[in-house]
Amino acid sequence: MKKIVVFTGAGVSADSGLATFRDADGLWANYRIEDVCTPEALARNRALVIEFYNKRRRELDNVEPNAAHRAIAELERWYDVDVVTQNVDDLHERAGSSRVTHLHGELRKLRSERNPDVIVPIKGWEQHLDDRGPDGALLRPHIVFFGEAVPMFDTAARIASTADMFIVVGTSLAVYPAASLVHYVRRDVPIWLVDPGNPDTRLIRNPLTHIKKRAAEGMPELVRELETVAGR
Ligand code: APR
Repeated sequence: MKKIVVFTGAGVSADSGLATFRDADGLWANYRIEDVCTPEALARNRALVIEFYNKRRRELDNVEPNAAHRAIAELERWYDVDVVTQNVDDLHERAGSSRVTHLHGELRKLRSERNPDVIVPIKGWEQHLDDRGPDGALLRPHIVFFGEAVPMFDTAARIASTADMFIVVGTSLAVYPAASLVHYVRRDVPIWLVDPGNPDTRLIRNPLTHIKKRAAEGMPELVRELETVAGR
């Protein structure tokens, strides 16, 4: 079976109703990164940071995977598929994708402020200020803040290097090291980009096809095309 790696960003969840970050109505148009997505913010204003992620977690309970998530999951019928996502939502998993690597953490998990290896699932959507983990330390969102290490990057880079086909869906390719994942794809491997906008593809040397459509429309079309190729 040929290997497909699908690399996704906030745009793949936009059609489920979740805000992206850098679009006009995106999260970073309404919140300052330095207030809610840095270790300093957590130390300076823990309540605001926890409230920001509680709000996003509560939103997640009210949205469903969209046709793009479902099409990506369906690819597993014909290909060996790995999803590498920058998203912290669980929509890929809920759509049925069986191998999902989260580069920037997961909304539905918390971790010890003392030991980053102590990671616990959260019950419901609300983290309380004084919630503590099994190690007795205070808990924090299991999210990679700006300025923090991206522990899963090496795993993701290794996955990208095994791709026979690479699909990029709904990311501006503006944040590193995540965006550099495209450089770990073997040079002859074709890359598809599904995005109505214009991500920064200047550094992509691979054969590139840009499907300039919303993911919920462009992804099912691409999957139908790839199914035909697989069926030959
Ligand atoms: N379908 C497909 N793509 C879409 C859609 C849609 N319906 N709507 C918007 N997009 C595209 C935009 O054109 C843009 O290229 O999704 C991308 C969203 O870019 P960003 O908002 O920058 O989101 P992302 O690339 O995931 O951000 C990367 O930045 O803030 C950090 O940790 C955060 O993981 C995030 C990282």
